[in-house]
Formats: sequence, structure tokens, C-alpha cells
Amino acid sequence: MITVICATHRPQNQTLRVVERYVDLLRELKQEVKVLQMAELPQDFMYEDSFGNRTDTFESIIHEKIVPAQGFVIVAPEYNGSFPGIFKAFLDAVKPHVWRGKAIALVGVATGRAGNLRGMDHLTDVMHHLRAEVYSRKVPISKLYDLIEPEDTGFNHPETIAILRKQAEGFVKFMP
Ligand SMILES: Cc1cc2nc3c(=O)[nH]c(=O)nc-3n(C[C@H](O)[C@H](O)[C@H](O)COP(=O)(O)O)c2cc1C
Repeated sequence: MITVICATHRPQNQTLRVVERYVDLLRELKQEVKVLQMAELPQDFMYEDSFGNRTDTFESIIHEKIVPAQGFVIVAPEYNGSFPGIFKAFLDAVKPHVWRGKAIALVGVATGRAGNLRGMDHLTDVMHHLRAEVYSRKVPISKLYDLIEPEDTGFNHPETIAILRKQAEGFVKFMP
């Protein structure tokens, strides 16, 4: 099972469009897929689920979407030159061993030109620290708003979807 993570909790975030398209790609590859959005975490998880505290809601998210997954696709928007702080707070609230040996694919999303390359490097460092294995084919998506037509409800940019498909195909083979 693969969990696709939307690494932001911003209301109406555009990252979710990419997450939804990625889920389609993985299902085309016959993968079982779940989605974890930072927006579904309890609002006070930084206090109620950190440093030894645990709520039932947070615990069930971990047991449904983190523990049983062999792989994670982390779709992370660029916020101030890195991945969103809420995702680091989430990692800090979860026991580190749940990531060990698991495969990670990274997708960066930005309005700027860098496609969150730096944030994906930061994520690579952190996930390697947690002894997860990061797949080398990372996908930066730059200038997101230029890739979305005004009438689009999802993310439908053909060239970028082809690149994401290539990553997904390689990632499925890379997973343990
Ligand atoms: C707090 C914040 C900081 C941001 N910082 C950057 C940045 O450093 N570089 C950049 O290209 N875009 C930046 N953006 C724009 C997001 O990367 C852009 O909206 C992206 O396409 C998707 O973010 P979203 O999922 O929140 O819509 C920032 C957005 C927010 C909300």
C-alpha cells in the first residue's frame, strides 16, 4: 500500500490537485493507495499529540495510513524555500521507527521557478535521517499556475503528468 501525502494544511491548497492526479496514476499501476492530508490532522496535534501525548484520532491516522504503507509519495509545496512546517511538526509527532526501510518518492510544487527543489533536498535529508529510502527520481513542478487552465478543476498538464507517470512507474519497482 502507498500513502500519498499532501504536505500542507492551507485551505484550498493547489498541492491537493497534484496529489489527486498522482493517486490516479498509482491506481492505473494497480497499486492500493491512501491519501493523507495535513488538513485532516487534529488542529491541536502539536500539543495534544507530541512528546508522549496521543489522541485516538491521531493514533488511528498513523495506524491506517502510515504503519501499513510500504511507500509514501510526499507532494510538498514550496513555502519560504522549503517544505511546509506542518509536515515537520507531523514527523516530530510520529515515532521515528515507522518510517524505517520504507520507500519515499518526492514531488515539489511551487509558483516560483525552483519547483521546491530545495525543499525536496531538505526532505531527503530528514527522511534519510529516519532511515527511509528516498527514490532518486524527484519531480519539481515549477510555475504551477501556468500549468493550470482557468477551466481546470484538477491538474491536467499532459507533459507534467507524463513525468509523474515515469516517476510512479519507477517508484513502484523501487519499493521493497
Ligand atoms: C506560506 C507560503 C510560502 C510560500 N513560499 C514560496 C516560495 O518560497 N517559493 C515559491 O515558489 N512559492 C512559494 N509559495 C507558493 C506555493 O509554493 C504555491 O502556492 C504552490 O503552487 C502550492 O501551494 P499550495 O498547495 O499552498 O497552493 C508560498 C506559499 C505560501 C502559502
